[in-house]
Amino acid sequence: MTLVEPALFTPQSLDHPDRPLGLFRLLRTLVHNPLETWPQPLFTERLFWQRFAGRPLLFVMDPALVDEMLVAKAAVFPKAPIIRRTIGPAVGNESIFTAEGTQWRWQRRAAAPPFRHSTILGFVPAFHAAAARTVADLGSRGGETVDVAELMMATTFDVIVETMLSGAASFDTKRFGQEISHYFDTVGWIAALSILRAPAWLPYPGKRRAREGNLFLKREMARVIAERRARPAATPDLLDFLIAAADPETGRAMTDAELADNLLTFVVAGHETTALALTWALWLVGNAPEVEARLLDEVTRVVGDGPVEAGHIDGLVYAKQVVQEAMRLYPPAPLIPRIASEDVTLGGEAIAAGTPVYVPVYAVHRHAQIWQRPDAFDPDRFAPESARALHRGAYLPFGAGPRICIGAAFAMAEAVAILATLVRAMRFVPLAGHQPLPTIRLTLRPDGGMPMRVEPR
Ligand code: HEM
Repeated sequence: MTLVEPALFTPQSLDHPDRPLGLFRLLRTLVHNPLETWPQPLFTERLFWQRFAGRPLLFVMDPALVDEMLVAKAAVFPKAPIIRRTIGPAVGNESIFTAEGTQWRWQRRAAAPPFRHSTILGFVPAFHAAAARTVADLGSRGGETVDVAELMMATTFDVIVETMLSGAASFDTKRFGQEISHYFDTVGWIAALSILRAPAWLPYPGKRRAREGNLFLKREMARVIAERRARPAATPDLLDFLIAAADPETGRAMTDAELADNLLTFVVAGHETTALALTWALWLVGNAPEVEARLLDEVTRVVGDGPVEAGHIDGLVYAKQVVQEAMRLYPPAPLIPRIASEDVTLGGEAIAAGTPVYVPVYAVHRHAQIWQRPDAFDPDRFAPESARALHRGAYLPFGAGPRICIGAAFAMAEAVAILATLVRAMRFVPLAGHQPLPTIRLTLRPDGGMPMRVEPR
C-alpha cells in the first residue's frame, strides 16, 4: 500500500547558495537581502562554521544545542554586538532589548505587569476593536487590492497604542511606519560594514534619512512622556510602570531619555512583528482553501457572530495553529545573534571567547532533520499532540531563555483574535502568480509588500 501525502500549499522558497558566498558577493547580497546569503548547510547540518572576512562565526541549528546555548548557558552567550550596532541607534544601548546583566534585569521586571495572563485577557476587546475597525475600513473600499502588510501594521499599531499607552497618544501612524522602514532598510549596509570592521561613523546610502527618522521617533516618544507626566492615565499602563520603576541597586528611576528608548522598543517590537505574523498567515490561508474552511468553521463555532472575547481565545485552537505555522515558515524575528563571552564548548565544538554564535531561526524552522516537508504549510504540525513531541529548541519564534520575548503571550492572543475577526468578515485572495519572497530587514518582511484582493464574505 502506498501512502498518499495530503496536498499541502508549498510556497516558493528562496534559492540558497550551496556554500558560503565569496566576500564580494556576500557584501552585495547582504545589502540586498541578508537571507539570501544563508548557505544550504544551515538547513541540513547541526552546526556550521562560516568565515566572514577571516573571522569565524558559528551557526547553531541542532535543537538540543540551541536550547543549551539560549537557556542553560545564557549567561555565557550574551547578545552579540551586531544587535547594538543595528538597533542601538534607534532604541539606545541600555534599554530592555539591548542592555545586559543587572541593567537589563530591573527593566524587565519593571515592564512585566502588563504582560500577566489576566491583564492580557483584559486586552482582548482592544484586539477585537482594532480588527473590527480594519474590517470596516476594508468594507468601505469594496474589494480593492490592498497591501496587507501595511494594513496589518496599522492594525497592530492601533493595538499597541491602545493597550500599552491607554490610547492616549495620537500618532501619525503612516509617518511612524515609514520612518521605521527607512531605518530597517539600512540594516543590510550596517551588517556588511560591520563584517568589514568599518567604524560605525562611516556613511552609507540611506544613513542620513534613517537618522532623521530615528530622531522623529524619539521626539514622538518624548512628547508622549511629557504629556503623561502632565496628565496621568486613569489606570496604570506600561508607561506608568516604567516611570514608577526604580533600579534596586541605586534606587534611581529611568531618565526621560531611557523611558523614551524603552517606549520606542515596545512600540516597534510590539507591533511590527505581530503585523508580519498576521500578514504571512493571511497570505498562506488565502492559498490553502482547506485551511481557510477549517479556520472559518472554528471561528463560527467558537465565537459566533459577536465580538471575539477573552473567553474565546483558548477555544480558537486551530487559529493558534495557523499563526504558529505561519511563524514557523516566516519567523518575524529570523535570527538570534549571540557572542561567546568566554571560551566554551557546545556540542563538542570548542568556541573561543569573542566568537559570534548565531541561531538562524528561519533555517531551524525549515531544517530537513527536524521537519517533514519543511517548506509545506501544515498547521496540523501544531495540533496539541504533535506539538508536545516537538523539541523546545526546534521552534523559537519568540526566542528562548531569559531573553525570551516579554510580549509572546500578548502577541499570540492578539494575533489569534485579529485573525479570527478578519477571516470571519473578509476573504483575502492572493494575486495570481504573486509569490512574495521573504527579505530580512531586521524583521522578516515580504519583499515589495503583500498585495492581496480583499472581499467581504
Ligand atoms: C509575533 C510577535 C512577536 C515576535 C515574533 C517577537 C519576537 C521576539 C524575539 C525573538 C525576541 C528575543 C530576541 C533575542 O533573544 O535576541 C523578542 C524580544 C522582545 N520582544 Fe518580542 N516578539 C513579538 C511580539 C512582541 C510584543 C507584542 C511585544 C511588546 C508589546 C514585544 C516586546 C519585546 C521586548 C521588549 C523584547 C526584549 C526582551 C528582553 O530582552 O528582555 N514583542 N521578541
